[in-house]
Amino acid sequence: MSDLNSLTKTHHKTDGNILSNSPFMKALRREKAETTPIWLMRQAGRFMPEYREIRSKMGFLELCHNPQVCAEVTCMAVDMLNVDAAIIFSDILLPLQSLGCELEFVKGDGPVIHKPVRNVEDVANLLSFDCAESLSYVLDAIKLTRKELPAHIPLIGFAGAPFTLASYLIEGGSSRSFEKTKRFMYAEPAAWHQLMKILSKIVSEHLTNQVNAGAQAVQIFDSWVGCLSRWDYAEYVYPHLRETVANLNKIAPVIYFGTDTAHLLSIAKGADVDMIGVDWRCDLDEAWRTIGHDKAIQGNLDPVILYADKQTIRERVEQILGKAKGRPGHVFNLGHGVLPQTPVDNVKYLVELVRELSAKQ
Ligand code: CP3
Repeated sequence: MSDLNSLTKTHHKTDGNILSNSPFMKALRREKAETTPIWLMRQAGRFMPEYREIRSKMGFLELCHNPQVCAEVTCMAVDMLNVDAAIIFSDILLPLQSLGCELEFVKGDGPVIHKPVRNVEDVANLLSFDCAESLSYVLDAIKLTRKELPAHIPLIGFAGAPFTLASYLIEGGSSRSFEKTKRFMYAEPAAWHQLMKILSKIVSEHLTNQVNAGAQAVQIFDSWVGCLSRWDYAEYVYPHLRETVANLNKIAPVIYFGTDTAHLLSIAKGADVDMIGVDWRCDLDEAWRTIGHDKAIQGNLDPVILYADKQTIRERVEQILGKAKGRPGHVFNLGHGVLPQTPVDNVKYLVELVRELSAKQ
């Protein structure tokens, strides 16, 4: 926040061609790029002293509602880490505020939803809202960020997937076992599908609006869907994911990400997305075979490896690039977000290393 004025100084002009020829956008089209593009989930976050400084002055939700500071944080990460793409600073849970669920981030406890969804009536009582209006602050952040970003750096918009959003709504916050979510699914299938339809509509509208505001690609975070069996995924989740993606009408490339999803990939690949993100629990080459080489893949370094020494980081990066075999359509990323205690130096080392090693492939 210290230097908000600097934001208005350098307005970069957006050039579609430069963006479209960037390594990240090429990889989404499975075209050969000079180096393997890399960006990191949670690349703007608590591991950065500059972010913690900003957060010492304002709450997380307050930050998310302030387009200028969101733009500053988004650009700061790109600047410091030299990554190939930016992701807009925002959160998947913000649309839940618009549904009237009273979202709060409690220090140490993570998100709390004060009015969780527990029965048919709760689903019926969710507020309907206009996405563009209610989430206009996210769109303003995207417009501002697009202006401030270097002209060759693509900006990723994002949303939570319907299942992952539903899990927060039903559990009332984070969960390990997702018991309430599954119980709701089995006990109230009609209400479950109704809820998933509501969320699917919000997600596709919010993503479309983000692309129209200036995002070059979008990522759908289905972080916790790996807790489901293949049968439940196929029955309760996948049709809504398909619908969400279909409603984007190919307006921009789409990335679908989940953790612990090796068993679900052969189903998820049926959704018309361009790239699938996988975590470190699976082998990248095996996952890619399952997804099919007609889709791009993103991943998949264990975030905890960034606590290790540089030699260990190097070995693991070599392993992953080895599994990708220089095949066009690989975007390097972590298998999940950067952890708060991660040394900044190791993150910078990782980015340079991926560029250096992949240039030789
Ligand atoms: O990746 C980025 O740099 C963009 C920003 C971003 C945030 N959240 C900022 C954030 C993105 C892409 C997200 C997505 C998100 N949010 C997901 C999907 C990805 C994942 O991690 O699985 C989920 C599940 C959420 C929900 C959420 N937001 C939780 C559970 C928490 C609390 C726990 C935690 O990790 O802090 C948040 C808070 C949050 N979102 C922070 C940030 C930088 C930390 C807030 C702080 O400053 O204290």
